[in-house]
Amino acid sequence: MSRQGSGTARGEHLGPTNPRLLGNPIDFIAEDHMRERAICAMIDKIAAAEQPDRDDCDHVLAFLREELPLHLADEDEDLFPMMRARCEPDDEIDIIIDRLQSDHGHALTDTPDVVALLRRGSELPDDGRARLTDFATHSRRHIIVENAIILPIARARLSKDDLDIMRLHMLKRRGLDRLLGA
Ligand SMILES: [Fe+2]
Ligand SMILES: [Fe+2]
Repeated sequence: MSRQGSGTARGEHLGPTNPRLLGNPIDFIAEDHMRERAICAMIDKIAAAEQPDRDDCDHVLAFLREELPLHLADEDEDLFPMMRARCEPDDEIDIIIDRLQSDHGHALTDTPDVVALLRRGSELPDDGRARLTDFATHSRRHIIVENAIILPIARARLSKDDLDIMRLHMLKRRGLDRLLGA
């Protein structure tokens, strides 16, 4: 399966999000969420299969190793602190971000078990299937809150300068800042 960028904002999300979408960091994060949803669907397929497809397992493993840590860092180190600084008390954003950051902690704690299951290369036990399905379900719930609440407020509250700083950090995180002339 291709590991190239998905190419368009409405691609099939079969590869990492295209860095060209970093022209608007919020668009990039929204596209990363589409990518994460595609991965959740793949995890559900693996959990339901009599014999998990090796390519599917390797694809999800590569996502967990290479893409998810970058996405979590984009939010934890840039998006969330910037929103805490820019939002009004009436936005009541702190309590939502606290919950999302707690979810990130759980995701990091759960990932080693998920990785171990995906590496088995054999039929999964029932409790292993349930663990994979739980991981995908929690991830989807998390994305719904971020898409419905966080990203629309970010688009309204963050300034052009904020977005420029976020873009630079996201490019540096990916080792792309010099390549793209940031
Ligand atoms: Fe998140
Ligand atoms: Fe996210």
